[in-house]
Amino acid sequence: MSHEQLPTDQPAVVTVGLPYANGDLHIGHLLGYFSGDVYARGLRRIGQQTAFVCGSDMHGTPIAVNAAEQGREPEELALSYHEQFEERFPRLNVEFDNYGHTHDETNTEMTHEFVETWIDEGLVHEREIEVAFDTETGDPLPDRFVEGTCPYCGEKARGDECDEGCQRHLEPGEIEDPVSVTTGNPAEYREQPHKFFRLSEFQEYLQGFIDRVEGSERARNQPREWIEGTLEDICITRDMDWGVEYPGEDRDDLVLYVWVDAPIEYVSSTKQYSDRVGREAFDWEAVWKLDGERRFGAWDDDWGETSGEIVHVIGTDIIQHHCVYWPAMLRAAGFNEPRAVIATGFVGIDGKSLSTSRNRAVWAKEYLDAGFHPDLLRYYLTTGSDVESDIDFSWDRFAERVNGELVGTLGNFCYRSLLFAARNYGGTPDTETSDEIRAHIEDAVERFETAVREYDIRALGEVAIDLAAVGNEYIQRNEPWNLVDDDPDRAAQVIRDCVQLTRACAVLMQPVMPGKAQHLWEHVGASGDVSDVELSAALDAPAAEFGEPGELFEQVDEETIAELNAQLRERVADTDDGDGDGTADDDSDGSDEEVDLEPVTTDRIGFEEFQELDMRVGEIREAEPIEGADELVRLEVDIGVETRQVVAGLRQLHDVASLPGTRVVLLANMETAELFGVESNGMVLAAGDEADLLTTQGDAPLGSTVR
Ligand code: MSP
Ligand code: ZN
Repeated sequence: MSHEQLPTDQPAVVTVGLPYANGDLHIGHLLGYFSGDVYARGLRRIGQQTAFVCGSDMHGTPIAVNAAEQGREPEELALSYHEQFEERFPRLNVEFDNYGHTHDETNTEMTHEFVETWIDEGLVHEREIEVAFDTETGDPLPDRFVEGTCPYCGEKARGDECDEGCQRHLEPGEIEDPVSVTTGNPAEYREQPHKFFRLSEFQEYLQGFIDRVEGSERARNQPREWIEGTLEDICITRDMDWGVEYPGEDRDDLVLYVWVDAPIEYVSSTKQYSDRVGREAFDWEAVWKLDGERRFGAWDDDWGETSGEIVHVIGTDIIQHHCVYWPAMLRAAGFNEPRAVIATGFVGIDGKSLSTSRNRAVWAKEYLDAGFHPDLLRYYLTTGSDVESDIDFSWDRFAERVNGELVGTLGNFCYRSLLFAARNYGGTPDTETSDEIRAHIEDAVERFETAVREYDIRALGEVAIDLAAVGNEYIQRNEPWNLVDDDPDRAAQVIRDCVQLTRACAVLMQPVMPGKAQHLWEHVGASGDVSDVELSAALDAPAAEFGEPGELFEQVDEETIAELNAQLRERVADTDDGDGDGTADDDSDGSDEEVDLEPVTTDRIGFEEFQELDMRVGEIREAEPIEGADELVRLEVDIGVETRQVVAGLRQLHDVASLPGTRVVLLANMETAELFGVESNGMVLAAGDEADLLTTQGDAPLGSTVR
């Protein structure tokens, strides 16, 4: 079954991954919120009734762990972030129709309704499983309270996810070498009875779902590996105080796992919206509920006709939750499934991954405090790369794109057109728009509609800029300023076309830059709210009269960028190496400021321990950049006995071409790792932020042991 083309006459709901209420918003989060907001606005623009909802994710162990560390109550901590988010989103022009939180009454009730239905349908069972306990305090250590090694990829993993390695969701008991996060004590596994959701019953359903679901590539394909393999039931309860209580009467000592009540907030938030505006205005059940009879086990092909359109916008890290667990959870409770899942890539900073623990992040507040209009960042993030590709943020690139694409192309075209029109005609010249320009606008409108239908958020954001580029070329080619005296009709024609293009830009840019679109709308003499008009308004006649326009965008100046760069570098340097993960290679910020030296470690090690490190003299034979990884190079290092392939984070710190021939020291018995699909078999030693390569002073033969 394929879905009916958008817009349909059913209501739609667009959601974005709920932010955990335990830290400030950074630009990594913003990519998702901007993308969702742009998409919801795009859907509305093509005529689909749409609610855009979200809420704060209040539960889960990260919040409980943070609260414990700060000596605060989880509820109080989470609520304070929730309030912060509520205030911040509108300032970023992210306008939710409803923004709730997972701890509110609506979501608690809705979650209970879901789980009770599963229980009634026989889809919940109890089973003994191994859960971690602190060996000294005896406390249970659910999820994030425990860290250790991922059983699938061997990377360090925390609680219920392998966030630094293979990104898998981990079930209780799976983490190897468990240690308590709060006490540092070793943990042990003990058998405890817990509740499980029968995910295994949904294999066939999910196989059908994954063929139907629309959205971005990875969201539609990555889940196949899970759905086609063995689907294990999932544990839905935890030994904790903080969360939504498990509703079954037999186990009131348990709360539900955070990933149960979190996605249900999508439904609850829609319900709150419906309750506020009235069912006639927006009917949450028409979107979310399957009609009465069609419940678990009663799959048929027609149901889609009677339910609305659900579109989830998330980051690639939570695809499994949204494309495997969640559809089954919905189905099991008699709810409608998502029509589409759009996964956005990850945001990196200055060629490296964003790291909140190192403070290598750009914070939402920091951006706003710098005085930039939110639409600039919305444009940068949503059009910088295809939706699922990772996108790098740097202040330099920000300035470059704002000054080039927004000021230079869009702003410049609109300004010169409207200024010329206002000065010479007092507004729109009294003639018709030419067929040539009409065709360009029709094309742009069509591209816009296609972008929405294909969930192509980037294309959606680029339509207006591309149209402005057409306009710039058109005005340049026709030189209306040379025509006014000799060929006034022709001049009027050209300017009329330019004003029409400007009006079309205002309509088409509205999803990605709603604030700037409204300004432009007013500059072009239109009345009302540009977000209320239909797409066809792009071709309606512009206002006969308007005055001289203001500048739409301001140039970003070098000084501000230099300051922001310095600010970022300084704080990354401040926290560098604080996490002790031993990666000397990927953490340079390229500055040549003085370094803060770390005090020497007081823990002594014995000679034997030292001898466990097998370090060899080697020579780099080959070096080449790794495609797709901004920092990494692939090296062939000759260590006498053999030649090793090693991946090192040297790309931005060294001239790659000059690396061959360099003598290095290689830690030869380093665990192998795979980075960007390339196996790294050893570690090249380097010092400091600039990755100064360790070498030998004499000419010890290759393969000599370092002692
Ligand atoms: N609370 C869960 C989501 C529950 S949805 C039912 C969560 N929270 S989060 O705060 O970690 O992330 C919120 C959203 O931001 C998620 O969609 C996540 O994928 C996205 N991102 C978080 N960091 C990101 C980047 N650095 N880059 C891009 N998206 C990122 O996950
Ligand atoms: Zn892993």
